[in-house]
Amino acid sequence: MANILYSALYIVNSTVLKYLKQILIFILGTVALFLIYENFEIGCWNIVALGTTSAAAAEHPWEDPGPYHVAYPRNYKVIMDDTPSCKTTTPFLILMVPVAPGDVAARDTIRKTWGGEKQVLGKLVKTLFILGLPGGADAQQQQEKLRQESQQHHDLIQSNFQDSYRNLTIKTMVMLEWLVAHCVNASYVIKVDSDVLLHVRNLVKLLLDPSTAKQNYITGVVWWHSPVLRNPFNKFYMPRDVIAEAEYPPYPLGMAYVMSLDLPGKILGVSSQIKPIYIEDAYLGMCLKRLGIPPTDPPEQTLFIVDPSHPLSSCSLSKVIATTTTSASQMISYWERSRQPEAKC
Ligand SMILES: *[C@@H]1O[C@H](CO)[C@@H](O)[C@H](O)[C@H]1NC(C)=O
Ligand SMILES: *[C@@H]1O[C@H](CO)[C@@H](O)[C@H](O)[C@H]1NC(C)=O
Repeated sequence: MANILYSALYIVNSTVLKYLKQILIFILGTVALFLIYENFEIGCWNIVALGTTSAAAAEHPWEDPGPYHVAYPRNYKVIMDDTPSCKTTTPFLILMVPVAPGDVAARDTIRKTWGGEKQVLGKLVKTLFILGLPGGADAQQQQEKLRQESQQHHDLIQSNFQDSYRNLTIKTMVMLEWLVAHCVNASYVIKVDSDVLLHVRNLVKLLLDPSTAKQNYITGVVWWHSPVLRNPFNKFYMPRDVIAEAEYPPYPLGMAYVMSLDLPGKILGVSSQIKPIYIEDAYLGMCLKRLGIPPTDPPEQTLFIVDPSHPLSSCSLSKVIATTTTSASQMISYWERSRQPEAKC
């Protein structure tokens, strides 16, 4: 019995001895890795800290906005603006198109269709494009192309934020700031997405109508009860801890909204009190609610079509103000048809 016990102990002992070296190496290795990781973390924090102590950032201590907020959307500058628009003339209506820096094709399509219309029903109309900085490996070449495009067309306004879908709220804020700084004497602005066909004549007609308000006016496809989407897989997901309410305040959809030019200043005025979310149009609604200025429904439901069933008839096209399109060629053919006098309805 003792013998058996002894030999058992011996086996255990020799096994422990045999693996002791490996066990020690494993423990030391783990400790070493842990120490390296800790140092690395501290190193990174140092870099972040150094970054934020630079002069510009010192005024606005860096704070991670998280994925649903947008940091400091009023912190950006216009870095390219060769537009004479509001400096030498006073347009009645400004057509403001947010567009991706690389999307020359969309800009050219708009320039040769509705964006090229300058005098409409005797009113001066101006088309401008607003964009941020190009990204990617060829950002510098893209920027050079933009500079040339600006020299040729004089219709680009560029700001120094990184252009991206998640930064659209910044784009809208920069647009409002630019309007306040340069175009307060214009009467109206429409913010219109680059895939939208605009019927400028119908828009001017609406704006000249005596029943259209000249102040505190914002219209488009108004969503009066837009639910806050809680499905994390949805493009517009918004968690409860960011927005607790079940619905956003009423807002006109981002595809195309028209506003009187007293509003940009008023919206900017309250926007500093409302933490910006990445959903640009819903954020506008939050600012409007704070102002106590509700959006206005358009006089006819046929004027703004967000989700049309294509192809649109000549009759529909003759009545529309803004409708989304699916391609440049569709935009061109719709525009040509919308210009034909007297569509049969
Ligand atoms: C938004 O713009 C800021 C400033 O240019 C940039 O730091 C940030 O990465 C951008 N966000 C996205 C999601 O592109
Ligand atoms: C806007 O209009 C006011 C009053 O008519 C005028 O004094 C001002 O110079 C105009 N501003 C611009 C930028 O045209």
